[in-house]
Amino acid sequence: MRRFVVVGHKASSSGDFKLDDMAGGAGRLDILLRCVNSAFFLSHGIRKDAEIYLVLQGPPAPTAIVRFVGSDLKYLNPDERSTGALVRTALLKMDGREWTRSSPGVSVSRRSLGDLLAELSAHSRMLLLKEDGAPLDGMGAEDVTFVLSDNQDLAPAEEELVNSLSAGSVRLGPLSLHADHCIILAHNALDRAAQG
Ligand SMILES: C[S@@+](CC[C@H](N)C(=O)[O-])C[C@H]1O[C@@H](n2cnc3c(N)ncnc32)[C@H](O)[C@@H]1O
Repeated sequence: MRRFVVVGHKASSSGDFKLDDMAGGAGRLDILLRCVNSAFFLSHGIRKDAEIYLVLQGPPAPTAIVRFVGSDLKYLNPDERSTGALVRTALLKMDGREWTRSSPGVSVSRRSLGDLLAELSAHSRMLLLKEDGAPLDGMGAEDVTFVLSDNQDLAPAEEELVNSLSAGSVRLGPLSLHADHCIILAHNALDRAAQG
């Protein structure tokens, strides 16, 4: 399984944002929505072996997490607006800490980044995607979780948290890239490793 955790520092944690204002009032939710597309879309299909967790840390707080699971996913379209609608519907159905399913393959929970990472790191090799990390190589077919940030770097406390649970920081190239492009490159590295 390939998992991606994307931290949205200002992304709305309630469903009261407007679909016309996802890059503004929704706290750069647009960045996270592009990450969803990169996590799943192939030319003619959906990656079934991928999951993405959108960590929505913006107002009104506390943090909400929307999870997309490729093996169950339906109604995902390539346009950001319809993915934004899936996120908004999930947030409107959120019911505390338990995962609440809002549509096939999409669920939501009120839980912290720390709780999520602790759960995932128990069964998945966690790697922080970071511009100054070690080169990404030696990937096998293991369960891997990549943690990345939105248009801001992780706060020092967040980075410390990830480092305490991860196998290290890795870089995907010499330049600082958009988060959604990083997901494509990570998939590509794993695809090539799987091919041998
Ligand atoms: C747009 S960048 C973050 C902001 C950027 N550090 C800056 O100075 O403006 C989004 C995220 O993509 C990931 N990222 C970007 N370039 C990367 C690279 N070359 N290797 C690994 N991860 C990268 C990191 O997780 C980063 O936090």
